[in-house]
Amino acid sequence: MKRITNRSRARPMALALALPALAAIALPALAAGGPDASAKSDAAAVERGRYLVSTSACHDCHTPWKMGPKGPEPDMGRMLSGHPQDFAVPPPPKLQAPWIAAFAETNTAWAGPWGVSFTANLTPDKDTGLGKWTLRNFTETIRTGRHMGRGRPVLPPMPIPVYRNFNDADLAAIYAYLQSIPPIANRVPEPLPAAEKVAGH
Ligand code: HEC
Repeated sequence: MKRITNRSRARPMALALALPALAAIALPALAAGGPDASAKSDAAAVERGRYLVSTSACHDCHTPWKMGPKGPEPDMGRMLSGHPQDFAVPPPPKLQAPWIAAFAETNTAWAGPWGVSFTANLTPDKDTGLGKWTLRNFTETIRTGRHMGRGRPVLPPMPIPVYRNFNDADLAAIYAYLQSIPPIANRVPEPLPAAEKVAGH
């Protein structure tokens, strides 16, 4: 009898001790919305990223064009895989002022005062795309206009001055979407230096 009384008295005490520990476990999960909610918010981020990518012109340059019945259109079979590795472009045409740039039929190779740039493979392929990129790599590239935030400058016509204005949530959504699309193995060539530099040695 005495033992039972003791135990019933002890219970509130034990609960009082256990509550903060429980709260420490439960509160972060609640704040994050629990595991189901985070899976849902991942799906929402991917969906938002799909929307942003399809309205912010990424396909225009990163999905190679093919000739359709009404003119060039993005070849969605090669969605966002960048300049095709098997398309070796000839030297760019000599341009006369005020013309400064030319682009190849795929819209993935661009010649201008910066040399020739080739649009990157944005699919999650581990070797040739963004498969190994973290969200941080992606955000720092777009915000600083340098490869991974510290490498060489990202060349025109990649619209860094426009895209650096995306907020963190939008960049995270674009990244989440790009990591969710089918990986395509396509090794994009390194950019070529400007013609004047080549001729100058
Ligand atoms: C007008 C053409 C154009 C558009 C539009 C464009 N890009 Fe690019 N992008 C390029 C070119 C060209 C390069 C390669 C630049 C280089 O080699 O320095 C590039 C490179 C990149 C890179 C790789 C940078 C690196 O350091 O490796 C990423 C990531 C990227 N673009 C993401 C995007 C996203 C996301 C969008 C849409 C929101 C987009 N691009 C829209 C032309 C474009």
